[in-house]
Amino acid sequence: MISVQNLSKTYTAGIFKKRQFTAVDNVSLDIAPGETLGLVGESGCGKSTLARTILRLIPPSGGKVFFKGRNIFAASPRELNQIREKMQIIFQHPETAFNPHLRIYDSLAEPMRLRNLTRDRAEEKDRVCSLLEQVGLHEEHLTRYPHELSGGQIQRLVLARILSLRPEFIVADEPTSMLDVSVQAQVLNIFKEIQDKYRISYLFISHDLDVVRRMSDRMAVMYKGRIVETGPAEEVYQNPQHPYTSLLVKAFASFNNSQEQIPEAVDVSQESLPGGCSYAPFCKRAGTACRQVPELKEVAAGHFVACWYI
Ligand SMILES: Nc1ncnc2c1ncn2[C@@H]1O[C@H](COP(=O)(O)OP(=O)(O)O)[C@@H](O)[C@H]1O
Ligand SMILES: [Mg+2]
Repeated sequence: MISVQNLSKTYTAGIFKKRQFTAVDNVSLDIAPGETLGLVGESGCGKSTLARTILRLIPPSGGKVFFKGRNIFAASPRELNQIREKMQIIFQHPETAFNPHLRIYDSLAEPMRLRNLTRDRAEEKDRVCSLLEQVGLHEEHLTRYPHELSGGQIQRLVLARILSLRPEFIVADEPTSMLDVSVQAQVLNIFKEIQDKYRISYLFISHDLDVVRRMSDRMAVMYKGRIVETGPAEEVYQNPQHPYTSLLVKAFASFNNSQEQIPEAVDVSQESLPGGCSYAPFCKRAGTACRQVPELKEVAAGHFVACWYI
């Protein structure tokens, strides 16, 4: 469904003295129809930048992205419009998703109206009600305004609105991280139900390893703009190979048991070694080989690790 090849994104900061900052560095990944790839990594590692670059919401610095075989960076504006309908993104902050002056009904009907997807008002209303039902909400919500609804209800409505366009690929960028834990579980279930029903592919992004583990068929662990480990989600979780993944798994396991704050494991603001493995400065295993960037290599079927000492 989606194939990302050697994608990079460099930001340029500063007006007089230009500084370059590589937020996404040579990332490749594939997502099959109906599959969920979870992307996990701490805040600032480049997850959102990767997501936005894949959807061409921001321009890439290098690499290619194919959606069902079509290179989206080479697509004409018209082609891109068609592809965009099939590729949707859900952001972290539900409160900005809807026009505060529109009733929910109109917000849900708007994308269909713009595309003339329904013949008349009656059909429109049927479609809106059916969308609502699929995300576990009721007709009474339709006459409300966004501020009258909870964060969890809004995220369901965001999903309902996206579904009206019959998407094939959804990027969910920390969709539940602003929600209470109990509400989070319900919303995650709806994501799953909808995927089963329509065979949608997800790129599911979270800094929360538990959420990613629960949602994903496969997961990719990102550190400072690079994928350091990827494989079947449960295998990566149970048997992490990269020293950074091990640290992440341990941090989450102890967090769950003790209810303590996750320790500040590593300082992501530090500059990486020029040209080398970015984790090396914090790594017990690091040696001279780490001055070169390690490639991902396959350690078990479908399980890849970027470390010289594996
Ligand atoms: N528009 C921008 N200009 C410059 N730097 C940015 C911009 N957006 C994000 N960054 C930087 O890129 C890095 C990755 O950010 P982001 O993709 O938001 O990470 P994440 O989603 O994993 O928290 C961060 O260091 C962030 O400060
Ligand atoms: Mg982010």
